[in-house]
Amino acid sequence: MTTTTNTIKHVASPLARQTLQDGELTRPVAAVKPIRLLPWLQVVKIGGRSIMDRGAEAILPIVDEIRRLLPEHRLLILTGAGIRARHLYSVGLDLGLPVGSLAPLAASEAGQNGHILASLLAPEGVSYVEHHTLASQLAIHLSAARAVVGSAFPPYHHHEFPDSRIPMHRADTGAFLLADALGAAGLTIVEDVDGVYSADPKLAHGAEARFLPDVSAAQLASTEGSLPFDRAMLEVMATARHIERVQVINGLVPGRLTAALRGEHVGTFVRTGAYQG
Ligand SMILES: Nc1ncnc2c1ncn2[C@@H]1O[C@H](COP(=O)(O)OP(=O)(O)O)[C@@H](O)[C@H]1O
Ligand SMILES: [Mg+2]
Repeated sequence: MTTTTNTIKHVASPLARQTLQDGELTRPVAAVKPIRLLPWLQVVKIGGRSIMDRGAEAILPIVDEIRRLLPEHRLLILTGAGIRARHLYSVGLDLGLPVGSLAPLAASEAGQNGHILASLLAPEGVSYVEHHTLASQLAIHLSAARAVVGSAFPPYHHHEFPDSRIPMHRADTGAFLLADALGAAGLTIVEDVDGVYSADPKLAHGAEARFLPDVSAAQLASTEGSLPFDRAMLEVMATARHIERVQVINGLVPGRLTAALRGEHVGTFVRTGAYQG
């Protein structure tokens, strides 16, 4: 009995006797590069506003393209929120709801969009799975089907940072965190513009917006203009462990997603902190 107690108390662990606050002490243990859990996985984030809200006209061609890609790639398709979340934000903000209450409500729209996409791909064996399944059973689902659909919204929910009244960690941040944690082969963000520009190409002075074919997350973080993805994604890109670049593409142009998944440069490459130059 005494021996057992002593063994438990003196568990051999390099982190057992030190504070986790001291980087000097934790670095030798924590600096090891994490393994890639699903190195063959391609993650594709489908925009809520840019693709799903356009209905059949935009969704059906992309579903066809995904269907044709299945023999070639194993995919995790993550959907974002669109117009319904925006309406929800305005009603919720008017009522004074805190950001932690708004985040799960907006996330539920990303889930609805995922259910729509998964229903259309169901004949190919594709299903929508919830976050806890993504976290623990993605591998088994992907060994039964070539693709799985999930919500791109990260589960910050009631833990959302109170910096802004609009949740700062939205679908792009969630897709990036998941792709990097899984050590995926790539992340493609599907929008309704050709990539990232120096300013919103759809606004009044849009003609002056310059297309940026290849840009670093750090460069974009130093600018203040609008972007076609969450600004918080730039922050998590800075500390990426695996994903070296994300490609932002125009999903309304047939063939772009196929080319992007084959590694072709057909949109904007956004380089992360993991990029080795
Ligand atoms: N710097 C920029 N480069 C490209 N598009 C931009 C930029 N700033 C704003 N946008 C706009 O972002 C839109 C995409 O909106 P977004 O909210 O990201 O949609 P989604 O919900 O589908 O991700 C594009 O159609 C474009 O008009
Ligand atoms: Mg977007």
